[in-house]
Amino acid sequence: MEILVIGVGYVGLVTGTCFAEMGHHVTCLDIDKGKIDRLKKGEVPFYEPGLKELVTRSYKAKRLSFTTDYTLAKKAEVIFIAVGTPPKKDGSADLSYVEAAARSISEQITDYTVIVNKSTVPVGTTRNLKQIIRDSLAEREVESPFDVISCPEFLKEGSAIDDCMKPDRIIIGSDSEKATRILKRLYSSFTLNHDRVLIMDIESAELTKYASNAMLATRISFMNELSGICEKVGANINQVRLGMSGDHRIGYHFLYAGAGYGGSCFPKDIRALCAMAENLSYETPLLEAVDTVNERQKKHLSKRISEYFSKKGGVKGKTIAIWGLSFKPNTDDMREAPSLTLIHSLLRKGANLRLYDPIAMEKAKKELKGKDQIRFCLNEYQAALNADAIVLMTEWKQFRFVNLKTVLTKMRGNAFFDGRNQYHPKEMATKGFHYVGVGIPKTSTDLLRELRSTHRKKELRYGTSMFDTDSTLIN
Ligand SMILES: NC(=O)c1ccc[n+]([C@@H]2O[C@H](COP(=O)([O-])OP(=O)(O)OC[C@H]3O[C@@H](n4cnc5c(N)ncnc54)[C@H](O)[C@@H]3O)[C@@H](O)[C@H]2O)c1
Repeated sequence: MEILVIGVGYVGLVTGTCFAEMGHHVTCLDIDKGKIDRLKKGEVPFYEPGLKELVTRSYKAKRLSFTTDYTLAKKAEVIFIAVGTPPKKDGSADLSYVEAAARSISEQITDYTVIVNKSTVPVGTTRNLKQIIRDSLAEREVESPFDVISCPEFLKEGSAIDDCMKPDRIIIGSDSEKATRILKRLYSSFTLNHDRVLIMDIESAELTKYASNAMLATRISFMNELSGICEKVGANINQVRLGMSGDHRIGYHFLYAGAGYGGSCFPKDIRALCAMAENLSYETPLLEAVDTVNERQKKHLSKRISEYFSKKGGVKGKTIAIWGLSFKPNTDDMREAPSLTLIHSLLRKGANLRLYDPIAMEKAKKELKGKDQIRFCLNEYQAALNADAIVLMTEWKQFRFVNLKTVLTKMRGNAFFDGRNQYHPKEMATKGFHYVGVGIPKTSTDLLRELRSTHRKKELRYGTSMFDTDSTLIN
């Protein structure tokens, strides 16, 4: 099939490349000439495991090509729109890129074309794109049949190729049998093992994408809120998680407390869903809370670091190493990365920072250029040099088995803030670190002090004693 993919970002380039891998003839189009030029030279503009090899293979075999030229829309049987839908100031999705792409397509098509929207868009957008194209064709006095359908994308950065080639499900929102048939056939190469195509109305397909991201973000915020309770009462979020997960209705996935979620999807999609509902005068207190909890969580580690250094002269002038900068492992995407919230907060408090990420260094340097207090390092060991504390922000696999003895000898201090709960607290303590996790009990002395103070306040208020012996509180 002759396919055109509009937008060579994470979604567009991966989708186009995977279809080319299946033997289709794919052209990837972008208005960013710089990106297209780089792709023509064999460079992939972002990091995604395995993508470069696939792009090179299909490009050499001439199944995959790159262009900025919309006239190529004329010969495409199927056109995918995979351009950005970034947030506007009020949280709603900026649809100008999607609409511009639809207009550019409408200026070219002359024969039946299936236009598939993959960008994450509010309900009603796909029908609106249809109207835009219809109006433009009428203006041109061209009678070209076409269909616009919704096929939201569920790939995850870091495992995008696998997600695209072996999708959990493919959602097709369509009001055209012909377009559905064509798309089902196109996707059949990815679903040979068993059919995973779900066909539904356009509105439900559009909403399914937001609903899925909202559910995942809710699980994260739920665990993060719970981790705060754990810290107050001396429970361990990891134990609680395992205890909950054993219930098959809850399951083991996506239940990790940490430094908050980031990336280009969860934060923007939750806010866009809230904005969509607000437009319809429908209140969404649960979704708003998911966002509020996440914003609080992104500031949590900075608070814990300040608490730790409060008796050591404060954060000002301290050297803090940060391991991991991208919003999650296996990507160089820095969009809404929680590390940025931490970095800006520590800079405001006067810390000197030593940063390291296995892949996202270039993007991080661009994002943080001109900050004198930052030193970019070659690896995690160099970052630890003379550091008063280390903060793990992204759980790259290579950080799992670092030689912690060596790390400690390089440091000036011994504090380790584990923003992703990757290390064992007792083991870290045995190795000589002052270890702080998320939702992991504080040291027994800290906990004791805190409970005593709460208890004292209650005693003063109610005149009763709820606090028997110290020993029950120390484990
Ligand atoms: N990144 C993800 O993990 C992911 C996953 C699922 C869904 N999505 C959704 O898919 C969409 C694309 O996301 P992304 O992360 O790939 O975006 P991206 O920002 O990485 O890439 C978008 C590309 O579109 C190009 N573009 C913008 N307007 C254009 C136009 N009129 N014509 C041609 N090209 C144009 C830009 O130059 C850019 O290269 C968004 O709606 C996003 O929410 C993203």
